Amino acid sequence: MTIQWFPGHMAKAKREVTEKLKLIDIVFELVDARIPMSSRNPLIDEIVANKPRIMLLNKADMADPDVTKQWIDFFAAQQIEAIAIDSQSGTGVKQIVTVAKEKLRPKFEKMMAKGIKRPRAMRALIVGIPNVGKSTLINRLAGKHIAKTGDTPGVTKAQQWIKVGKELELLDTPGILWPKFEDEEVGFKLATTGAIKDTILNLQDVAVYALRFLAAHYPDRLKERYALSDIPEDIVVLFDEIGKRRGCLAAGGVVDYDKVAELVLRDIRTEKLGRLSFDRL
Ligand code: G4P
Repeated sequence: MTIQWFPGHMAKAKREVTEKLKLIDIVFELVDARIPMSSRNPLIDEIVANKPRIMLLNKADMADPDVTKQWIDFFAAQQIEAIAIDSQSGTGVKQIVTVAKEKLRPKFEKMMAKGIKRPRAMRALIVGIPNVGKSTLINRLAGKHIAKTGDTPGVTKAQQWIKVGKELELLDTPGILWPKFEDEEVGFKLATTGAIKDTILNLQDVAVYALRFLAAHYPDRLKERYALSDIPEDIVVLFDEIGKRRGCLAAGGVVDYDKVAELVLRDIRTEKLGRLSFDRL
């Protein structure tokens, strides 16, 4: 999905999410576990404001597990409950309902104290930037039994609820928010992980960023993947070495840097260099 974010679109997205927040008890903020900060919406705290929230570090299967653990501790220190999940396989997804129940316990206890015998299901909204896995998670939570409970009047577009067991109802359309664009490094991280289209930034620039990052944080994996005895300081030499070894050549046998960039980014995104985390504490 390509979304062009202009100020008008951002304002509309914010309005839509704010409107949906009125219908729900809890927000599931979906981020990419490989870049839990860079894949957050910059205004998320302001938009979500006082609603209870759980942070879901999705695609944790692709992220460096040690770094993910550090992030979970980091968010916990800020009173933000974060869970590592893999929406594709379902790992960690069951925990969402447990944690949400715990978070909403005071609210539902209050309702019970007021005489409501059986608390209704918790209502939740998934929010996140494009490609972070919102649809995958909705499908995973819904399982085979997507049961729609009918429209809710009072909103511009009819909202459908998806039942997740007895205890949770999910709005079927997630809140799509924009990523951070202002910071160049954030842009490179979004591009490296495939969160934004390859046409948005120059592919060679993205690959330069990615290779420098790998050289700094995962030198052994970089050496192993491309059979390098050591990692050249000069990035052009590194491109040349990889290009020659992997046959990324143009006419006349010269290294084709676009091909090298494509190869390296494809390798990263398909986990050929293992599980990587690009946001570090
Ligand atoms: P969105 O609604 O937030 O835009 O994201 P969506 O669910 O469409 O997911 C985007 C891509 O991320 C999908 O790949 C999806 O399979 C993948 N994905 C989602 N959750 C996980 C996860 O926990 N682990 C892994 N490994 N992948 C996940 P796709 O359809 O193949 O798209 P693409 O690969 O062509 O970009």
